[in-house]
This record gives sequence, structure tokens and C-alpha cells, in this order.
Amino acid sequence: MSRTPIIAGNWKMNKDVKAANELITALIPLVKDATCECVFCPPYIDLPEAVHLTKDTNIGIGAQNMHWEDHGAFTGEIAGEMLKALGVKYVIIGHSERRQYFAETDETVNMKTKKALELDMTPITCCGETLEERESGKAQEIVVNQIKNGLKDIKDITKVVVAYEPIWAIGTGKTASNAEANEACGWVRKTIQEMYGEDAAEAVRIQYGGSVKPSNIVELMEEPEIDGALVGGASLTADFAQIVNYDKK
Ligand code: 13P
Repeated sequence: MSRTPIIAGNWKMNKDVKAANELITALIPLVKDATCECVFCPPYIDLPEAVHLTKDTNIGIGAQNMHWEDHGAFTGEIAGEMLKALGVKYVIIGHSERRQYFAETDETVNMKTKKALELDMTPITCCGETLEERESGKAQEIVVNQIKNGLKDIKDITKVVVAYEPIWAIGTGKTASNAEANEACGWVRKTIQEMYGEDAAEAVRIQYGGSVKPSNIVELMEEPEIDGALVGGASLTADFAQIVNYDKK
């Protein structure tokens, strides 16, 4: 089975509305012939403009987080329903920075992933180990548990995109080797196979994230278990088009 590659830019807490407008306007013509699914995830306040600018293009817009409830007394939070109403099609869930700084757990990741699917949005659900966990030989156990708990009881797992992002490779310039990235994406797929069966595991798309750039995307995408990338720093300039167009080099 062939899986459509998906490359997403996670802008994190960067770019105000004006800067977002400039970058999206620059990127639209540069990525228009992409063969992969192409997604930009700007900060919340940029989303209305981003959805508007990318209407009738091949770019999908995603949020970086959402709440699982539809509304209520959750100061500072944004509901998935609100994103959906805006035309947002994707949502990053359980990024390691959310887990580290904002107390996200596998349990909240599970609730958010389910809610995103219920709203017909594509969750990009993240997993990945710390440096300490890798060095102590626990990386596989950590990733497998994140998948088992974060993605349990999902109705249509094939609609979930999983992002494997080793925390030690995020923003450090240190990319996992191709073999390490492929191996860990393989752990994710094997776990999904055990939970949901062979067909589901074959269909689900798994991204690698962590210091992806124009110079390493081609070799990462050659790995059989890697179906795309979740890109941080290198998604903040028009050079992101070189990553999206990795197959045209
Ligand atoms: P960098 O590409 O900046 O390492 O960030 C990766 C990431 O966290 C994407 O979600």
C-alpha cells in the first residue's frame, strides 16, 4: 500500500499576523506542485488569515493544540469545534513542548485525538523520548507506551498522523540518524499493528520530526517507515518549500 507523504510546518510561537501573511504569500506559489500533503501550523491568532490566504490552494492549515471540550470555563483554551468552524483541517496534539511545559499527558493526548477525529480534523499526534531515556536504553519502551496510551480506543486509526520526534533532536541541530528515525517509526507502526491490525498499521502515516532541513529531508524520506516530516525551525522561511519539494531535487 502506498501512503501519501505529509509534510507539516510547526511554526511554534513565531510570527504575528503580518509576518504569517508574508510567509504564506511567499510559499503558496513555491509549493503549488507538491506531491506530498502540505500543512502549515501557525499560532492561533494567525489561523483566520492563514485559512483565508490558502483557500483554493494545496495547503492545509493546522493548529498547534486544542481542547477536547466544546466550550466552557477553560480560560485561555481553544476548542476543537472553534478550529473546525474556522476551516482548520489539522491539529498537532501532544507535542513534547506541550507535554514538558503544559502538563499534557497520554490521557489528554488521547482525549484530544478522539475529539479531533470526531470533528473530522486530522490529528498529528506526537510521541518521542528524551535524551536520558534514549541513553538509558528506554526509548522503545517510552514510545510504545505513548502510542498504547495516547492512541487507545481510536475508531479510525488510519486517519491519525503520528509524529515521532525524539526530544533530543528538536531545535538542537542534531537529527536522529536515518536508521534511528526509521527504527523508531517502525516501533510506532508495530505497536499500531498490535493494537489495530496489519491493514491499519500499513495505512497509518508516520512523520519524523527533529532538525529536519532541506539538506537531510531526501534521505529521511527514503526510509521505508517514514512518511513525512514535522518541521520546526526550517518551516519559518520560504526555504520550507525545498523540504516540501524534496522529491523534485
Ligand atoms: P525543529 O525542526 O526546529 O527541530 O523542531 C521540530 C519540532 O518540534 C516540530 O514539531
